[in-house]
Amino acid sequence: MHLGRKTLSKFLIENVSGTQDGASLAALLVDVAAAVKAIAALSGKGALGGPMGSLDTINVQGETQKPLDVLSNNAFINTFQQGGLVAGVASEELDDPFPIKPPHKRGPFLAIFDPLDGSSNIDSNVSVGSIFSILLAPEKGLPETADYLQAGTRQVAAGYALYGPATIMVITVGHGTHGFTLDREVGNFILTNPNMSIPEDTSEFAINTSNERFWEDPVTRYVEECKAGKTGARERDFNMRWIASMVAEVHRIMMRGGIFMYPRDTKDMSKPGRLRLMYEANPMGFVVEQAGGKASTGRQRIMDIEPDQIHQRVPVILGSKNEVDRLVHYHEEYDAGTDKPYESPLFNERGLYRS
Ligand code: F6P
Repeated sequence: MHLGRKTLSKFLIENVSGTQDGASLAALLVDVAAAVKAIAALSGKGALGGPMGSLDTINVQGETQKPLDVLSNNAFINTFQQGGLVAGVASEELDDPFPIKPPHKRGPFLAIFDPLDGSSNIDSNVSVGSIFSILLAPEKGLPETADYLQAGTRQVAAGYALYGPATIMVITVGHGTHGFTLDREVGNFILTNPNMSIPEDTSEFAINTSNERFWEDPVTRYVEECKAGKTGARERDFNMRWIASMVAEVHRIMMRGGIFMYPRDTKDMSKPGRLRLMYEANPMGFVVEQAGGKASTGRQRIMDIEPDQIHQRVPVILGSKNEVDRLVHYHEEYDAGTDKPYESPLFNERGLYRS
């Protein structure tokens, strides 16, 4: 038990409820936490909770749905419908956003969420997560899809929940990023990681290298330098991780630094990236920036992108500031035609370019 330690509710009352729309936003984040607890309980049961495997349904992303994808989606939707704090919801699992209609009450926010990210990991009992982004709803009328297409800089709150050995919820409302661990016996989220801070430097990178042949040159150059370690331009060894669960990947970076890349590639020319702007890149960008990290496509700050579609995909490069800056710089050089071979001494640790 953690009596005397700060609960999520207490934290929200103290830090959020005083701001504009703050009381409603604090209440909405309590609702998000309720959905997260339900999903934590469901996912924690594993095969005992019901059928595993895949359903016959394909979601709008072209991915085969899992039973837990659908249950998690329902947990969020039911919570938001009953909560009376959002005017509409957009889910990665649904074709289109939908407005909250009577008899349910509408509130001042729009909720955008990926109910179960990394769900290909469920059957092998590897960590999965939920990601959410909160925007202001239009003041009048039912929200339409265009109302959700706001740049990430306009998010009023964002966060993720990681269903790992412990369930952890990490949130930002634009004043730092804060982590809460679920005390399962009591059912409270307890503030365990206030003011999280991503180290500026790192020697750990995360990328799915099976896509290497589809990458652009700046990414190949960066990863080759990491792999060359002490004997290459970087003159130090790097470690690599790939969980294939973005939430787990981002949380590791929040805890000890690192760079995560799902860059633009030529695997499927109709998709400029794998990850979704509204459901994954923007909320994670907000969380990471509020912890001192950076989030970029390689050519643009993620949160500055003006969305044009609700399910839009973008390249994502995020994490420790100096490594993201380095890779952005490699993109600039490549686009300007001034990129140097990665063996160049100009780019080693003591060279002219030192991030
Ligand atoms: O849908 C997103 C996601 O599952 C992320 O959580 C993860 O980073 C990525 O896809 C994994 O992709 P891949 O299977 O190509 O490694």
